[in-house]
Amino acid sequence: MQTIARLDPLRSAVAALRQSGKVALVPTMGALHEGHLTLVREARKLAEHVVVSIFVNPRQFGAGEDLDAYPRQLAADCALLEPEGTALVWAPEPGEMYPPGYATNISVSGVSEGLCGGNRLGHFDGVATVVCKLFHQVLPDMALFGEKDWQQLAVIRRMARDLDLTQPAVGDIIGVPTVREADGLAMSSRNAYLSADERASAAALPRAMREAIAAIEGGGEVAPALVTLEEALLAAGFASLDYAELRQADSLGPLTTLADTPARLLVAARIGKARLIDNMAVGRTR
Ligand code: PAF
Repeated sequence: MQTIARLDPLRSAVAALRQSGKVALVPTMGALHEGHLTLVREARKLAEHVVVSIFVNPRQFGAGEDLDAYPRQLAADCALLEPEGTALVWAPEPGEMYPPGYATNISVSGVSEGLCGGNRLGHFDGVATVVCKLFHQVLPDMALFGEKDWQQLAVIRRMARDLDLTQPAVGDIIGVPTVREADGLAMSSRNAYLSADERASAAALPRAMREAIAAIEGGGEVAPALVTLEEALLAAGFASLDYAELRQADSLGPLTTLADTPARLLVAARIGKARLIDNMAVGRTR
């Protein structure tokens, strides 16, 4: 497994890999967990070579967010990736990704508005910008993203369609279902911020979401189900709810009732130092 920090050697190394098969890209910010390793395993089923990028992208962190505290553990991450058959780790420094004078921003309207885009201003501009750069740097045949960041996946798909980022920039964009702990909590690098008590309480998030979904699918109205969800989270020890919304699965258009189109319940809530997000399919077409 090669670990590369500069763009020129990256391009040569990926070109060499491409001689002997497809290349899949798994973009990450490091602090890898089983969810990321699942993406790598899925990528290996689909491509001969897997490139994992590890870059804590400053442009997607807002003022007062956890950029400085975000865990950075390149050696430990590489030790997890090597046994999974990763061919290459692309780990640029911020100055390599955004050299002095860097001035370009990609902004995707519509799907990036509201939900995490409402609470984290500029966040999805930062995500779209770095992912577009990663696609052009690696030129993968496919890129895999976790469905846990459902809105992020929708933003990246929209950007790829709008900017014609088909081959050679990126082939398929593949969403991989969320990996969960035994108690249902979605795996996230930010779970590391939780104390033992908070970690136990955090299991209320997927539980309250499943209860809300059961109520909505059982014919109950959406708004009261979401109020009950918020009450359950606050009772369990969450400090606050950023949002809990039912949305159309692909366009992320708002839904006040369950229709025949695929729908998604998306939630962000704060507990201790962590802001946890999750989403689940809702409805007959899921
Ligand atoms: O999901 C993440 O880890 C990041 O948002 C991504 C896609 C690697 C871009 O920095």
